[in-house]
Amino acid sequence: MEGASHPVLFPITELIYFHQVGGPMDQRIWNDVEDYFTCNIVKQETSFSNALRRQNEEGLPPINVPPTQRKLLYLLAKMINARKILEIGALGGYSTLWLAKALPEGGKITTLEINAKRAGIIRDNILSAGLADKVEIILGPAKETLLEMAERGASIFDMIFIDADKENNPEYFDLALRLSGPGTVIVIDNVVRNGKIIEDGDGDPSVMGIRMSIEIAKKDERIESTVIQTVSGKGYDGFMVVRVNN
Ligand code: DHB
Ligand code: MG
Repeated sequence: MEGASHPVLFPITELIYFHQVGGPMDQRIWNDVEDYFTCNIVKQETSFSNALRRQNEEGLPPINVPPTQRKLLYLLAKMINARKILEIGALGGYSTLWLAKALPEGGKITTLEINAKRAGIIRDNILSAGLADKVEIILGPAKETLLEMAERGASIFDMIFIDADKENNPEYFDLALRLSGPGTVIVIDNVVRNGKIIEDGDGDPSVMGIRMSIEIAKKDERIESTVIQTVSGKGYDGFMVVRVNN
């Protein structure tokens, strides 16, 4: 393992996710600590680590959230007894698998993905994990799909995970709120972006998109929110957790 400096043996099948290679000293210890917790307490299934391997082999960008954070999404879904989950942006379906696993019998996760090739990979990963009956994949631009769902008056979701392109985050957040009810939990990934969220300058559309989402969280009195900063094999980032009031 690149940069390993701790006397811990990791079962290698559990480590199939993406580390930044090199980088500052801090990055190396974040990698190793991430591996330590992934192997010792996340306990992901082989089909889940295989899903990450496949995603890697297919050349998808290495931006899946690390296993420890995926497990948190899974635990949140269980804590609120989520039966209906919406995922905006699925990449290769790694978080979809964790969220699907959290669902009770009869529960459903609807995942929105814009890219047909990725949707194929997601489908394969879900079939391999034996979770096909819990997942619905909708191919297309998420804004259109969400708008259609909101206008049709689709039933509300218990949990919504926003992890697609960051430019459109404010629209995704607004539409997610239209598909929410009392107690709905919304999680928005990548709100820290290596600290860029508070740096000067307005050139980066992803940062602007996230800042506008923070503005929504600041002003919207229907919700309560917080942000958790994270370090991991993916570097320094964070996610926002939102709860819709009763
Ligand atoms: C990016 C997107 C992600 O969803 C993520 O987890 C990390 C980075 C990005 O677009 O840069
Ligand atoms: Mg993300």
